Amino acid sequence: MLLPLRVRGLALKNRIVVSPMAQYKARNGEVGDWHLVHLGARALGGAGLVMVEMTSPVPEGRITPGCPGLWNDAQQAAFRRIVDFVHGESSARIGLQLGHSGPKGSTQLGWEQIDEPLPSGNWPLLSASAVPYGPQNQVPQAMTRADMDAMTAAFVAATRRAAAAGFDWLELHGAHGYLLSAFICPLTNRRSDEYGGSLENRCRYPLEVFSAMRAAWPAERPMSVRISAHDWAPGGNTPDDAVAIARLFKEAGCDVIDVSSGQTTREARPVYGRMYQTPFADRIRNEVGMLTMAVGAISEADHANSIIGAGRADLCAIARPHLADPAWTLHEAARLQTRAVDWPNPYLSGRDQLYREIARQQAMQTAVQVAADPAEVP
Ligand SMILES: Cc1cc2nc3c(=O)[nH]c(=O)nc-3n(C[C@H](O)[C@H](O)[C@H](O)COP(=O)(O)O)c2cc1C
Repeated sequence: MLLPLRVRGLALKNRIVVSPMAQYKARNGEVGDWHLVHLGARALGGAGLVMVEMTSPVPEGRITPGCPGLWNDAQQAAFRRIVDFVHGESSARIGLQLGHSGPKGSTQLGWEQIDEPLPSGNWPLLSASAVPYGPQNQVPQAMTRADMDAMTAAFVAATRRAAAAGFDWLELHGAHGYLLSAFICPLTNRRSDEYGGSLENRCRYPLEVFSAMRAAWPAERPMSVRISAHDWAPGGNTPDDAVAIARLFKEAGCDVIDVSSGQTTREARPVYGRMYQTPFADRIRNEVGMLTMAVGAISEADHANSIIGAGRADLCAIARPHLADPAWTLHEAARLQTRAVDWPNPYLSGRDQLYREIARQQAMQTAVQVAADPAEVP
């Protein structure tokens, strides 16, 4: 997990990614001091790539009123400040996830009633079809051709702003039941035009958006797409479909598929467990022949090392463990007693003490085991 990876013109120092995580702390779509400290701390914490949470190209595409956007100069400047800090003070790289909330927009903050409509001040929703996310959620309007063209243009404008803000990596959010995912998932796409029906038709609009963004994004910088590789619901997409979806995005110039799953319908019954989405990343990597990012319940260096070492994915995105520990990579490296990570200069004496302390604890554990059963310990 500590080996470097090159994707297009970008060199990542290792395979650990801080997975995008909504913070619900933006004001008028603008990121602020919270995001500088949150993302800055994780950039200093050893991961090779830090992803910013889902950011919308238009005001109505935010999930909640606390979600960020990138449709004006003030939002671009606020992101530039964070990107400049990461580039100036760390060896991490930083990426932006662009996405539109579709049928799951106009909802409450993550620690309120997640995915439920706002008590007041709701805005109208757009989706592939007029299928609400749940009984309490608004019924979205099915996008017209004009809506689709305007939305593609907004994604392209936000892509140009992301490039100008200095981001190293751009991800398109095509997962979790948001707008583009609602096109891909057969349970939320009931269209009878060329954007509904077969898998190729359901992927057509997400691919149009991706291709327009790819043309506007600098050629040397990578792009990934996050997909839900399994809807975990009868009649939904399966991991076989995910292989076909990945192949279409690869043909459109996608460098990496970020392989998540679910959250496309309330009927989903996922089977959770350690590294539970990694089999889908493994299939895409090895059947399509492209780079993948595994995500979901990867919480220890042993998990990440076994995934990368076995060739099941090229990158491991780690979300909740990074909420508990911004320096997850540095601390996992210390447990392995490997020095193949960079600590920020002001923290070096903390590093040295931590390595000594862990070495002492490990030596004591070995001594206790030897005393308990000398034959068992090599
Ligand atoms: C607080 C929180 C916010 C999240 N926000 C996003 C997001 O903005 N975009 C996204 O694609 N996934 C988001 N996720 C999903 C994570 O990126 C990740 O896929 C998921 O938590 C599984 O990884 P983990 O087991 O390491 O936490 C979020 C997860 C959490 C816990």
